[in-house]
Amino acid sequence: MSINAIRFLLNNDVVSIENIDPNMTVLQYLREERFNSGTKEGCSSGDCGACTVVMAELAKDKQTLNYKAINACISFVGSLHAKQLITVEHLKQGAKLHHVQQTMVDHHGSQCGFCTPGFVMSSFALHQHNNTPNRVEVLEALAGNLCRCTGYRSIIDAALVPNESTANDSFAQHYQQTVKQLNDFKTLPSAELSNNVHRYFAPKSSAELAKKLLDNPQAILVAGATDLALTVTQNLATIDDLVYLGDVAELHRLDNNADEFVIGSAVPYSEFTPMLANEYHELGEMIERIGSKQIRNNGTLGGNIGNASPIGDMPPALIALGATMTLQRGDSERKIALEDFFIAYKKTVLNEAEFIKNIYIPKAKAGQLLKVYKISKRIDDDISAVLAAFFIELNDNVVTNIRIAFGGMAGIPMRAKHCEAALLNKTFNKASITAAQQALTQDFQPMSDVRASDKYRMKVGQNLIEKCYLELQSKNIETRVVNYA
Ligand SMILES: Cc1cc2nc3c(=O)[nH]c(=O)nc-3n(C[C@H](O)[C@H](O)[C@H](O)COP(=O)(O)OP(=O)(O)OC[C@H]3O[C@@H](n4cnc5c(N)ncnc54)[C@H](O)[C@@H]3O)c2cc1C
Ligand code: FES
Ligand code: FES
Repeated sequence: MSINAIRFLLNNDVVSIENIDPNMTVLQYLREERFNSGTKEGCSSGDCGACTVVMAELAKDKQTLNYKAINACISFVGSLHAKQLITVEHLKQGAKLHHVQQTMVDHHGSQCGFCTPGFVMSSFALHQHNNTPNRVEVLEALAGNLCRCTGYRSIIDAALVPNESTANDSFAQHYQQTVKQLNDFKTLPSAELSNNVHRYFAPKSSAELAKKLLDNPQAILVAGATDLALTVTQNLATIDDLVYLGDVAELHRLDNNADEFVIGSAVPYSEFTPMLANEYHELGEMIERIGSKQIRNNGTLGGNIGNASPIGDMPPALIALGATMTLQRGDSERKIALEDFFIAYKKTVLNEAEFIKNIYIPKAKAGQLLKVYKISKRIDDDISAVLAAFFIELNDNVVTNIRIAFGGMAGIPMRAKHCEAALLNKTFNKASITAAQQALTQDFQPMSDVRASDKYRMKVGQNLIEKCYLELQSKNIETRVVNYA
């Protein structure tokens, strides 16, 4: 059973949409269908933050709301189902600006004003969960928003002002009503959307998803859309049939077991990062550098793997950790190692109508640790030129277990097996590190592109092997920028 519509709250009003092209983005919907032009369009690719809106959704307890800043330009309209969409027009109450708007005025945080609604919405999302943010938290919240004229100091100062009046804004006043309405939406059958040409399905269970894919093997899976939507907004493609994974209950698994983590493929970064960062600190630091807060609020682990990009950041780290995955097709499941998933550039072992269900990430045993290095031109919101991950176990300074994986060095993320062989069962010293650096040339023949040349990639890969060694030799060597505030 399904309903041929999506239902959501726009601010506090119930909206039902049917007969609309599911390729439409939330930004297009707001500006072209609702004439809410406060939300701006800059890049249409998730990079500038001008289109930032806030999505409130039910937390797992079904009693509380999570407020997330997202990029409206790369979110499909169907993903609004059973959520609350808050835009800049909705913040003020009568003539009174919301705290996050007033502080922008007070701190002179706006000149031409084009970026201002986006900054205000990022700041609003931050203050909904944290009304006394510190500078690091503000920088993290605003890293996905660009301003070309004001300069960031005044905007950061505005966002830093504690919000004493959170409890009085209209969202706090309608909180219980919003929770009830979103719960009511959740009881509806699976949502569908169609303009009779293009179709969108949002199954609620993995069985329903599997059947939908068998019946429509041409359909394209979409989770956070932070990769896929660019094919529509940048390549100007139109997708005939979309199957949305965000409502599939089984794909939201998040288990912290004794010896492994289990992460559902549709869980966004912002939900699974704290759990992983607690076990693998450097992995947590790296994830904080994937895109921006807006991207991490929507982007999922399944999407990062399913996209099969040679420069996706999670696969090399998870390959080094020996992660495995379950793939489902129809009612059968198979389990494979993540390192066997990628076959060639953008090609995977996924069969027609098959999808990634869960990702299993082993925990470290005593003496094992993970080192991760992301090389990009900027710290925030930038794609990697090279990503290196080292999972290593030393006993009496002998390497007794090692898995090394790289991204950006080949058409797929993959292990550096010659490099590993140069280190395994060897004393961990300068001589074995030099051998490993040389062996890297047997593992990879990197390519040149807009991000880096082949020579740069190889050199930086070799240097990262040495950096890993130096950091393990002495905890006191300062090799990283750790405080950007
Ligand atoms: C501004 C910006 C910055 C970015 N920065 C980074 C970065 O720093 N590092 C990085 O690695 N990536 C980055 N990305 C890419 C993207 O955000 C990530 O790859 C993200 O994890 C994709 O997840 P998603 O849920 O949005 O995938 P979607 O866009 O929904 O899907 C991506 C692909 O995976 C497939 N897919 C999705 N889920 C499944 C599944 N369960 N089973 C099988 N196939 C599936 C889809 O069909 C599609 O082909 C960035 C993107 C943008 C726009
Ligand atoms: S318009 Fe630039 S991030 Fe959306
Ligand atoms: S005020 Fe002009 S872009 Fe920020």
